[in-house]
Amino acid sequence: MNFDLTPEQKEIQRLARQFATEQILPRAAEWDRNETYPAEMVQAAADLGLLNIGIPEEYGGLGLGMLEEALIGEELGYACMGFDTIILASDLAVVPLKLAGTDEQKKRFFPGLVKGLGAFCLSEADNGSDAAAMKTKAEFVGDEIVVNGTKMWITNGGVCSTYVVLCRTEHAQGHLGTVCVVVPGDAPGVSHNKLHGKMGQRCSYTAEVIFENVRVPKSNMLGGIGDGFKIAMKTLDRTRITVAAGSLGVARRALDESVKYARTRHAFGAPISNLQAIQFKLADMKMGLDTSRLQTHYAAWLVDNDRPHAQASAIAKCRASDVAFSAAAEAIQVHGGYGYMNDFPVEKLLRDVKLNQIYEGTNEIQRVVVARSLLR
Ligand code: CAA
Repeated sequence: MNFDLTPEQKEIQRLARQFATEQILPRAAEWDRNETYPAEMVQAAADLGLLNIGIPEEYGGLGLGMLEEALIGEELGYACMGFDTIILASDLAVVPLKLAGTDEQKKRFFPGLVKGLGAFCLSEADNGSDAAAMKTKAEFVGDEIVVNGTKMWITNGGVCSTYVVLCRTEHAQGHLGTVCVVVPGDAPGVSHNKLHGKMGQRCSYTAEVIFENVRVPKSNMLGGIGDGFKIAMKTLDRTRITVAAGSLGVARRALDESVKYARTRHAFGAPISNLQAIQFKLADMKMGLDTSRLQTHYAAWLVDNDRPHAQASAIAKCRASDVAFSAAAEAIQVHGGYGYMNDFPVEKLLRDVKLNQIYEGTNEIQRVVVARSLLR
């Protein structure tokens, strides 16, 4: 067993860390306050090669693996979980193409995703966890598919080059009637409403996306009729690792901020880092961070080595986001009253990372996935 990163992986980690700490971290609080979508920085990340890194080289991408994604995710999450989501949730459009796209489809759609964001349209206003109950319709008319429906809470909706849309057809009930359709971001009939008032991750662009008589060629369907739900599930089995990775970044930041503060803040005549009550919090944060990172990298390794990974990825996502939420809450506690104010970065960590316990399948759904794999 070898826990070393390769020289290439170390270089990617260094590049992502430098970009995150120099370009993202200093701006994150302001983006959060003003709900600013940082378009220029997204472009900068793409230019640096941090976006959609899993696109194979033969289609113009870097052809990197899930472990490299996890390394980037941790660094971006450290600086700003909202920015991390913009970049890493884009993968939700890349993975279905990798899993189910034909060579012709990859040639057509990957180039637009090398520098452009993707968005994954699964959730709807009335269905989140029960993903198979989607209502957005796909009708086959001649050589075209006509898409009608409204998707909800779509990360990068409205600012992406490519949508991957999960739809229902008349062909069969339940998941057997679902399809997965690629829709260009600028297709006529696609519109969106930006969602305001999010608790955290406020720089990431989240939208309701409306598809009104959107016509795309039949050849935009990934897989066949009835494959949509399974493509979505297999996609999430991979991308949940990126949520785990961002959570590691948040947990590491919570720990670093707590150590820094505990060393400088004095109480009872000495730094509060002398108090066991504080030391135990720091130790618990470190234990959670290191064990979650092991699980996250293990799940990524399984993907990169073509091994079954659904259970490991659900464990990583659930554990890392729970650990990060608790680390952020404890970081506020270490900071006392200051931690509750937005002059210090720790309250933002808590608001941001709450979403990691919800999106890409709530942590209750992750437990369902793990339990089903045990009992099957
Ligand atoms: N891989 C392959 N096939 C799978 C699968 C997987 N991981 N999971 C299920 N399937 C197959 C099953 O084998 C079954 O196939 P057969 O009928 O051929 O046997 C079929 O799919 C239906 O499976 P289930 O009966 O288990 O499906 P279910 O309706 O009970 O749902 C669920 C299972 C795990 C609860 C699923 O609905 C789920 O994961 N829900 C959460 C949805 C989710 O994660 N949403 C996130 C939205 S994306 C997002 O947040 C993005 C963002 O913007 C950041």
